[in-house]
Amino acid sequence: MAAFDLVLHGATGFVGQLVVDYLALHPEGNRFSWAIAGRNPDKLARIRRSAAARGSEPGVIVTQAADKASVEAMVSDARVVLNAAGPYSECHADNIVGVCAVSGTHYADLSGEYWYQRRLIDQYHEEADRSGAKIVLAAGVDSIPSDLGVQLAIEHLASKGGRARHIKSLFTSYAGSFSGGTRRSMQARKRIAQSEEYEPGFHTDPYVLAPGAERSDDDETVSGWDSRRFDADFRRFGGPFFMAPINARVVRRSLALGGHLPCTYAEGISTGAWLKASWLWLSRGFGYFVGAPIPMKPESGEGPPPWLQRAGSFCLRVYASTGDRTRSALVEVRGAGDPGYLATSKMFSELGLALLLDEAAPGGGVLTPATALGPVLRQRLANAEGSKFINFRILD
Ligand SMILES: NC(=O)c1ccc[n+]([C@@H]2O[C@H](COP(=O)([O-])OP(=O)(O)OC[C@H]3O[C@@H](n4cnc5c(N)ncnc54)[C@H](OP(=O)(O)O)[C@@H]3O)[C@@H](O)[C@H]2O)c1
Repeated sequence: MAAFDLVLHGATGFVGQLVVDYLALHPEGNRFSWAIAGRNPDKLARIRRSAAARGSEPGVIVTQAADKASVEAMVSDARVVLNAAGPYSECHADNIVGVCAVSGTHYADLSGEYWYQRRLIDQYHEEADRSGAKIVLAAGVDSIPSDLGVQLAIEHLASKGGRARHIKSLFTSYAGSFSGGTRRSMQARKRIAQSEEYEPGFHTDPYVLAPGAERSDDDETVSGWDSRRFDADFRRFGGPFFMAPINARVVRRSLALGGHLPCTYAEGISTGAWLKASWLWLSRGFGYFVGAPIPMKPESGEGPPPWLQRAGSFCLRVYASTGDRTRSALVEVRGAGDPGYLATSKMFSELGLALLLDEAAPGGGVLTPATALGPVLRQRLANAEGSKFINFRILD
C-alpha cells in the first residue's frame, strides 16, 4: 500500500515551493497525506521545515529521477504523483511517467514541451489506458484555462443545439512574469527546434499531440492567430500570444480525444492585455519602487517577486461556433494571481487533489486536464479559496 496519497516531485523548484506553501495550508489537509520529493536532501529538509511552520508535516523522499529503481521506490509510495521538476525533456520525467503508466498511478506535470509530450503519447498512452493511470500534461496556466474554457464553450454550444466547428480563444488579461525554470524550458525548445532529431514538419505540426486525428484544413499554423487584427466576435484587437503554441496543441489533443474534430482552433492575446501587463510593471518601476525588482534573467529557483505574484491575474474568453456560424457560445475564465506561478501552483495542486479525492470519469491514458478531469476540475477550481480564485462564466 502506498505510504502517501500525494507525492510532489521537484518540490525544491520555484513552482514546487509555491505548491508546498499551498498544500501546507489547504483546507482539506486532513483528507490527504503527502510527501515532498527531489534530488537534494538538504533543500528538501529546509522546505519541510517551512511546511511544518505552516502546520503541515509532509514526508520526505530523496529520489534520483535518472535512476529507475529510485523512481520505482518513489512511485510505489504514492497514489498520485505531481511532478514540478522541469524542463521535463531534460529532467528524466519520462522515467517517472513510465513507472506510473505501468503501475496505474495517477500523474500530472506542468510540461509545455511538445516533443516530450508526444514521446509520452507514443510510448505510454496505451499502457496507461490499460492500467487506468491518468497521466495529465500541461497542468498549469498552460493549459488549464484554455483547455477547460474550450470544453465549457463546447458544452454550452451543445446546450443550444450546436456542434462546435470553429473555436478561438483570446487572453484579455495576462499579467505576470517568468521563472528560471520557464527560461530553461524555452531554451530547451529552441535547442530541439534547431536539432536534427525530428523532421522539420514535426515542429510546425498543429496536430503533433493528436496523432491520427481528423484534421481541419483551416488549421494551418500551430497557434492559429498569427497577426494583429480586430476580431468582431471578441470586439477587441488581438495578436499572437507566446504561450499559444503550447495551449493550442494541448487543446487539439482534447478535441481529438473528446471526438470533437474536425474543428479549428486559434488562440491569441488582446492588445489591452499587453497594456494592462505593461502598466502593472511600470507603475511599480519594475519592482524597484517596492524594493523587489522583477528578475529579468531568473536562475533556477527564482521567479516573479511576491508583490507581482499577488497583483498578477489572467482572463481568457473562448468563442465557439457551428460550421455555418449561425450559432455560437461565449465563455470566460478569469483567475487571480501571476498566471505562471501563484495561479499555476494552485491549479496544479487542485488538479492533484482532484485526481486523489474527486469522482472523475474512469479511464487512463496520456491525457489533458479537460479529458482527465473536465467538469470535476472546473468545479474544484471554482470552489477553491472560497470561490475567489477562478471564475468560469457563460457570457452568451
Ligand atoms: N504549465 C505551466 O503553466 C507552467 C508554469 C510555470 C512553470 N512551468 C514549468 O515548470 C517547470 C519548473 O519550473 P520552475 O520555475 O519551478 O523551475 P526551477 O525553479 O528551475 O525548478 C526546477 C526543479 O527541477 C529539479 N531538477 C532540475 N534538474 C533536474 C534533474 N536533472 N533531475 C531531477 N530534478 C531536477 C530542481 O531540483 P534542484 O532544486 O535539486 O535543482 C527543481 O526542483 C519548468 O519546466 C517550467 O517550464 C510550467
